[in-house]
Amino acid sequence: MQTNTHEIADHIYRLSTCVPEAAPGGFTFNQFLVDADEPLLFHTGPRRMFPLVSQAIARIVPLERLRWIAFGHVESDECGAMNEFLAVAPHALVAHGAIGCMVSLDDLCDRPPRKLVDGEIIDLGGKRVRHIDTPHVPHNWEARVLFEETTKTLFCGDLFTHTGDGPPLTDTDIVGPALAAEELFHATAVSPLIGKTIRRLAKLEPQMLALMHGSSTRTRCSESLLRLADAYDLMVPKN
Ligand SMILES: [Fe+2]
Ligand SMILES: [Fe+2]
Repeated sequence: MQTNTHEIADHIYRLSTCVPEAAPGGFTFNQFLVDADEPLLFHTGPRRMFPLVSQAIARIVPLERLRWIAFGHVESDECGAMNEFLAVAPHALVAHGAIGCMVSLDDLCDRPPRKLVDGEIIDLGGKRVRHIDTPHVPHNWEARVLFEETTKTLFCGDLFTHTGDGPPLTDTDIVGPALAAEELFHATAVSPLIGKTIRRLAKLEPQMLALMHGSSTRTRCSESLLRLADAYDLMVPKN
């Protein structure tokens, strides 16, 4: 396995490792590094991927400069290596919503995490990230996304997950592949609130959707969110 690095927006890097056996056609595990005065990592990758991911980051910024460790929810691909990163970056803190801290991270993190309220912004110096609670979307009570305001990049985690080892950026449709992957994995907590939660993200009018699994895109971002919301609403059981 190797980790490939690509600058998808100004000082925002996608680190991508394809695991061929994880799905037909392969499955990418992507992390995003926001290179600012206070560098932020979104997703740590699984603990066993730490050597690969940390080496890739160190080619962009010294690991000890990392200031913020962030992710969508508590799963190994999202945060399995968080304590490894806290160990090599002495000024780094995990930053997450209050529910995630209360339910899991106050206990799991080797240093106390920074608790964020819905809509709170961390000014990274050159970049600004807004924390947005998305409980149970796509899954897990503590689920959240991050929106980087200067580039209008939405770090949407598992939303739009699709298989294959595609390019870092695509201008082809990502909704169809995401729905095909949903049929394969059934990973999303399809609930009555899912459409409303995803439509709220479309209102941000993102110019980039940065995906944890699959290609990121700058194309038709809000429209894709609205189409995804509609598709999930149709899956909600009616009684
Ligand atoms: Fe997940
Ligand atoms: Fe994931």
